[in-house]
Amino acid sequence: CNTLGLPARAAVAALEDEAAIPALCAALAAGQKGGDAAAPLFILGGGSNLVIAARPRRRILRVALRGIRLWRETADHWIVEAAAGESWHGFVEHCLAQGWPGLENLALIPGTVGAAPVQNIGAYGLELDQRLHSVVAWDLRAGRECTLRPAACGFSYRDSLFKRDGAGRWLIVRVRFALPKAWTPRLDYPDLRDHPGLRESIDAHKKPSPRQIFDAVCEIRRRKLPDPAVQGNAGSFFKNPVVGAAQAADLERLFPALRAYPQADGRVKLAAGWLIEQAGWKGRRLGPVGMHERQALVLVNHGGAQAADVLALADAVRADVHQKFGVDLEREPVILD
Ligand code: EPU
Repeated sequence: CNTLGLPARAAVAALEDEAAIPALCAALAAGQKGGDAAAPLFILGGGSNLVIAARPRRRILRVALRGIRLWRETADHWIVEAAAGESWHGFVEHCLAQGWPGLENLALIPGTVGAAPVQNIGAYGLELDQRLHSVVAWDLRAGRECTLRPAACGFSYRDSLFKRDGAGRWLIVRVRFALPKAWTPRLDYPDLRDHPGLRESIDAHKKPSPRQIFDAVCEIRRRKLPDPAVQGNAGSFFKNPVVGAAQAADLERLFPALRAYPQADGRVKLAAGWLIEQAGWKGRRLGPVGMHERQALVLVNHGGAQAADVLALADAVRADVHQKFGVDLEREPVILD
């Protein structure tokens, strides 16, 4: 249940039918009234953004709801709904096969559809909130189902209401995406624009197809990122830090090769992978874990790691990056203990 491949023992209940949720809410409310001090329920998707303790104390609910359908069609959009337990990549592929493009930049991201809004997944120039129509979620505290439009989800870079607001409160059951019928390729990300298959089309003034973009994204990810089925990892282990313009300018004077991306609000996002590499951690190990040799932002399990090994390496990397650059890295995966 966790792509870092950490050994853990816990009872995991599976949610296979939405009809079971009212009883779940009632049981949670009764537990609270009865003085059950257990920490809130932990809602598990694909376990691809998770550092799990050997014996977690929290109760775990794995969301196994399935189903994909065209929910509505408007003049401009296909609105496609997928159940939270569907595999994210499988869903992206299914949409493409049905002729509903628009999610291809987000191909091959591990995890489930329900987890995707939690951390507002993003890659290769597209963030989930740019395609989201609505999230159908149960508020487990109030015991009712709600439909949240994007403005209510508190999205920002790798963050949302669901990640912040008392984890365990929201149980996402279905997610709807508005996929524009007038599809245009998203080719802002340099890696994508420069990919040989796409470069050829761009140079010939031809519009690449959604499938070409899908294939290019899959190829880039397979080349750069370790496959969790082969080597345990949780994708990027840190967020790319965002700093003030003055700090970024100071850093650029000291480190002219700094990878810095100005943001709309005037602040500047720095490439954490570059900072970690410059701090000497690319491909370096600490015990059974290490930072990946092709993408220093990805922490990998070389075999036999426990949560404590992962957190010790994360602390060492953070400390060295802070010492060299004065920049604090924030962890991306959540901890289940
Ligand atoms: N870089 C280095 N050394 C490294 C890694 C990166 O110098 O070891 C430099 C690259 O050369 C490039 C820059 O850093 O100039 C950015 O690297 P990259 O394009 O690989 O993207 P990233 O910022 O490291 C982010 C996401 C990824 C996503 C890619 C592509 C975060 C935390 N990570 O990585 O998301 O796939 O962009 O859009 O925002 C994930 O969240 O798990 C994830 C893999």
